[in-house]
Amino acid sequence: MDIAGGRFVVTGGASLIGSHLTQQLLEAGAAAVILFDNYALGSPEVAASLAQDRRVTAVRGDITRLPELLNALDQVDGVSCSRPRWPPMATPRLTRLTK
Ligand SMILES: NC(=O)c1ccc[n+]([C@@H]2O[C@H](COP(=O)([O-])OP(=O)(O)OC[C@H]3O[C@@H](n4cnc5c(N)ncnc54)[C@H](O)[C@@H]3O)[C@@H](O)[C@H]2O)c1
Repeated sequence: MDIAGGRFVVTGGASLIGSHLTQQLLEAGAAAVILFDNYALGSPEVAASLAQDRRVTAVRGDITRLPELLNALDQVDGVSCSRPRWPPMATPRLTRLTK
């Protein structure tokens, strides 16, 4: 998959791993990155800092709530799951949705 010009969702995007991943996507020329996070562990300040780049949109949402997740996944080229450590059942569900 080409990253340059692509649109991506990073779940857990406000986490340590998710924020670094977002920076990598931006450096590789991504056209848009949606940080999808419920801020259970991640920091809204981290998301706000990243969102200073006009290509980044911070979306508060929970991967266990299907409508919120499907809305974020609309018209994106790729999804990166910075896997939340909790709840453990969320990641298999997200993996099935994005196959
Ligand atoms: N931090 C590290 O040094 C490190 C090293 C190796 C592996 N990992 C793994 O990488 C993954 C991410 O680690 P981390 O430390 O960056 O983040 P983390 O596990 O501390 O946080 C995960 C992120 O997901 C968000 N989140 C949690 N539940 C959510 C939900 N239901 N819907 C939406 N967002 C949700 C949290 O708010 C947080 O931003 C974990 O699986 C971890 O085990 C982390």
